Amino acid sequence: MAPIPETTITSSDGPRPIPLIGLGTATVERSDVVKTAVLEAIKVGYRHFDTAAFYGTEKPVGEAIAEALSSGLIKSRCEVFITTKLWCNSTERELVLPALKHSLRNLGLDYVDLYLVHWPLKINQKHLKVPVPKECVTAIDIKSVWEAMEECQNLGLTKSIGVSNFSTDKIQEILSFAKIPPAVNQVEMNPLWQQKQLNKFCKENHILLTAYSPLASAGNSWGNNSVIGCDVLEDIAKSREKTTAQVHPFPLLNLAVYHI
Ligand SMILES: NC(=O)c1ccc[n+]([C@@H]2O[C@H](COP(=O)([O-])OP(=O)(O)OC[C@H]3O[C@@H](n4cnc5c(N)ncnc54)[C@H](OP(=O)(O)O)[C@@H]3O)[C@@H](O)[C@H]2O)c1
Repeated sequence: MAPIPETTITSSDGPRPIPLIGLGTATVERSDVVKTAVLEAIKVGYRHFDTAAFYGTEKPVGEAIAEALSSGLIKSRCEVFITTKLWCNSTERELVLPALKHSLRNLGLDYVDLYLVHWPLKINQKHLKVPVPKECVTAIDIKSVWEAMEECQNLGLTKSIGVSNFSTDKIQEILSFAKIPPAVNQVEMNPLWQQKQLNKFCKENHILLTAYSPLASAGNSWGNNSVIGCDVLEDIAKSREKTTAQVHPFPLLNLAVYHI
């Protein structure tokens, strides 16, 4: 596989490279399967991995990186870009830093490249139950959560901080008080849901918009066939003797980092 092109995001070290295509790890697969998938992905050239406290895949991602380092597949930690996310049960000022430290222990890393607020929500639940009952979901105090995110970056535990599933209004609110503006907003985005307004806003504010579920999560309970079954993409694919996923503007991926 040809080297994956990169763009840059703002970080504590100034602009840092981030590969434009990453591998997502939101899956119900067993840990050993995730570890193998990440190792195989490193072998074919992936250097950007997306995990989250909620996915339960931080450990196998970390194990794969450790093995890639010890086997010489990669020479140093800084060759890979690792994103993880703050789950909604920890979106309170005093819970953010402990949550990141817990994620770092899972990953076996001293720092992550990007730490995201997974959703602009607070979930009050003793034990995780999906779907989350409505009465367990409340608004977050974004100012206090964001200040704690800034502390995480200032402590060197993450190189960059950002958000996920945030609207323009919610980002605008952060920008009104942030000392460190979000570097990234990770949202659902695909050829049939292009997020044009949000993309324009993020561009104007130097925030990298990242696409998740770029194939509309076909086959998953939360996804649909709109991209994989799209007539226009199918016609393009047929004319080039490729599959729809191969002619998709974000080819071969689980997670795209995308800046138009
Ligand atoms: N920030 C957030 O809130 C958030 C939310 C969702 C996802 N994410 C991130 O985004 C990543 C990707 O999201 P996703 O898994 O929901 O969506 P996705 O990449 O759009 O879709 C994955 C689905 O597409 C199918 N697929 C993959 N390649 C295909 C191909 N060549 N032809 C036909 N079908 C194909 C897969 O089927 P098979 O399993 O059969 O291969 C899988 O069911 C996640 O792993 C996670 O890291 C973030």
